[in-house]
Amino acid sequence: MLHKQLKPFPENFLWGASTSAYQVEGANLEDGKGPSCQDVKKVPEGTSELDVCADQYHRYKEDIALMAEMGFKVYRFSISWSRILPEGTGAVNPKGIEYYNNVINECLAHDIVPLVTMFHFDMPAALDQRGSWSNPESVDWFVNFAKVMFENFGDRVKYWLTINEQNMLTLVGPMIGTLCIPEGTENVLKETYQQNHHMLVAQAKVMALCHEMLPEAKIGPAPNIALIYPNSNKPEDTIAAQNMNAIRNWLYLDMAVYGKYNNLVWSYLEEHDACPEFHEGDAEALANGHPDFIGFNYYSTGTVEESDGTETGGGDQQSSRGLAGVAKNVKNPNLMKTEFGWEIDPVGFRNTLREVYSRYRLPIIITENGLGAYDTLTEDGRVHDPYRIKYLQEHIKQMRLAITDGVEMMGYCPWSAVDLVSTHEGVRKRYGFIYVDRDEFDLRTLDRYRKDSFFWYKKVIASNGEDLSPEFTAE
Ligand code: BG6
Repeated sequence: MLHKQLKPFPENFLWGASTSAYQVEGANLEDGKGPSCQDVKKVPEGTSELDVCADQYHRYKEDIALMAEMGFKVYRFSISWSRILPEGTGAVNPKGIEYYNNVINECLAHDIVPLVTMFHFDMPAALDQRGSWSNPESVDWFVNFAKVMFENFGDRVKYWLTINEQNMLTLVGPMIGTLCIPEGTENVLKETYQQNHHMLVAQAKVMALCHEMLPEAKIGPAPNIALIYPNSNKPEDTIAAQNMNAIRNWLYLDMAVYGKYNNLVWSYLEEHDACPEFHEGDAEALANGHPDFIGFNYYSTGTVEESDGTETGGGDQQSSRGLAGVAKNVKNPNLMKTEFGWEIDPVGFRNTLREVYSRYRLPIIITENGLGAYDTLTEDGRVHDPYRIKYLQEHIKQMRLAITDGVEMMGYCPWSAVDLVSTHEGVRKRYGFIYVDRDEFDLRTLDRYRKDSFFWYKKVIASNGEDLSPEFTAE
């Protein structure tokens, strides 16, 4: 569609950015916090441990003040389960409650809406030892954790996200350090989708609980959605793209919105003797959980062709290797790549927004989008990141086109507000508007510096997305 005139961003559009607890906070065993799976995992060689990260635990005031200076309307952060409940269940850690109360209050003092992710890749290690999401009790564990959060923070937090990138936990969990498959498991696919099922039921129950306990609040899922293109107009390539879209994307949103398994996914699981077992009450719980909006993370699209049966699976969030019998992943020659090998597809962002909205007709907030790059702090105390400005500018432009296409958008939270530790590529893969002075193993000062993208995004927010030109004033 070529538009004659662009629609503006909505008046109360939520501009902001995101982080997650285990990647930004540090203080990983401080003030009573129990370890999470991220604290006990073996980090990839050459990358930092997750004990200090950006040290936000000790510097949240400074970080939130900088976000306010950028004009943030919203800050998406996650609550560490094992900071609140060190054992995952049982006793609450008062210091953990105090910390998140402080963060929430600090946001509100700056007129920043807190958008809280309840679970972002950091299962308490104590629950991993009890079988993690394999254990059917995991549903109750998560509901209990949600209840603690609603009771303690629900008077001030009006927007909640359930599980960050459940689809990535399921498809590339080992890469992120989360998927815990019990030793001796014979059918790993079945086990993986049983865990996935428990998460889906837990999410549905938590959405229903949120509506019951906090009638004013709004809640939604936060998967990683990437539209999958067919490599050619060969009809078999479209079948492959439909397969991959179902397994990677629609399974998660169909379940969140309709409470039903996607039919293509279900037959794929049947073929592999991997259908999850429904426990008593699951179907009802799935039917009773409804999101108020859809949050999703977007980094890039994927492209596939007909499977030749040799695909091995795996890869990372954006570099799927395809799935045998489902689809073969191929490079898209029309797209550039980031320094870390992820394809860049701003038009694909519009495609994905249009597709998600026409399938589900719920307002959308983008919970992640951004460019991981090597940044350099120069002698003038600045970080010149025109590549990040260009990436964001092109994506925001496409988001506005999607709004003009009729997509109902609530907000945009790129990844990340502050530099933090990547899921598997260390500190050197930076995403933030705010530079943190440390490298992989040398903690240096941990001081904060405003990147060029900081000043540019400030201007974008001040103009409510009208002015996307690359010029900016550094103050
Ligand atoms: C998403 C995650 O997959 O992408 C974040 O929700 C993550 O936790 C982000 O950091 C970027 O990925 P990576 O692997 O570059 O850190």
